[in-house]
Amino acid sequence: MPAVIAITSEKGGVGKSTLAVHLAGALSERGLHVTLVDEDGRVGSSIGWAQRSLKRSPEQGHVGLGFEVLEPDEVRPRLLRDLDALVIDTEGRPKRKELRDLSERADTILLPSGVSTLELESTLTLAEFLTSEGGARRKLKVILTRVPPTSGAGERAREDLREAGLTVCNTLVRQYAAYLRAAELGVLCRDLPAREDLGGRAAQAWQDILSLSREVL
Ligand SMILES: Nc1ncnc2c1ncn2[C@@H]1O[C@H](COP(=O)(O)OP(=O)(O)O)[C@@H](O)[C@H]1O
Ligand SMILES: [Mg+2]
Repeated sequence: MPAVIAITSEKGGVGKSTLAVHLAGALSERGLHVTLVDEDGRVGSSIGWAQRSLKRSPEQGHVGLGFEVLEPDEVRPRLLRDLDALVIDTEGRPKRKELRDLSERADTILLPSGVSTLELESTLTLAEFLTSEGGARRKLKVILTRVPPTSGAGERAREDLREAGLTVCNTLVRQYAAYLRAAELGVLCRDLPAREDLGGRAAQAWQDILSLSREVL
C-alpha cells in the first residue's frame, strides 16, 4: 500500500493545495509513483490546477504535472497497489469527525501553517484536537508555509511550536510570487517559464519543496 500523506488545516487559504500539488510533483520527480486526491471540490483546488495544466498547449509551455490528480470516487484499490505515495488535498473547513477519519486513513498528516500569531494559535488548537484523539500524535507534522524569506519569523515560529511539543518540519516553505503564477498557469513552480517568474525566485521555491519532500518520504 502507498504511503498516505494528508494535508489539512482548519482554515482555507493556508496553502494546502499549493503544497499538495508541489509535494506530489517533487515526489514524482524523485521517481516515486504518486497520485494526488482532491477531496476539496471548490474552485482553486488541485483538480483545477491540473485542468489548467491540460489546457496549455506545448507552444504555451505545456509540460504536465507529472502525476495524476483524481477525485475521491476515482480512487480504485487496483490503482493503490501500484502507488508509492497518495497525497490528499483536503477540504477547506473539515468537521471534527472528518479530521478524525482522516487521521485514521493517513500515515502522515501535514498541517500547513502561516507564521502569524493567529495562525500559529489555530495550528496549535488543531494539533491538540488531533493528538487528543490518540494515535495521531506520531503522524502529525507542521509545515510552516508562506514564510517571509528574510525576517526570521519562520525560524522563531518553528522553535515556538517545537517548544509546545509539536513535530515541525525543518523546511520552511517560503513566500514567493512564483507559487501564485504557477497556480494560475497550472504548472509547478519548477516549470514556470522565466518570463513568468517575476520575483525570480521559482528555483528557490522548488528547492524548498524538494527539501520538504525528503522530510516527508
Ligand atoms: N509559499 C507560498 N508563497 C506565496 N504564495 C502562496 C504560498 N502558498 C500558497 N500561496 C498562495 O496563497 C493562496 C492560497 O493558497 P492555497 O494553496 O489555494 O490554499 P488552500 O488550499 O489552503 O486554500 C493562493 O493564492 C496561493 O497562490
Ligand atoms: Mg485548496
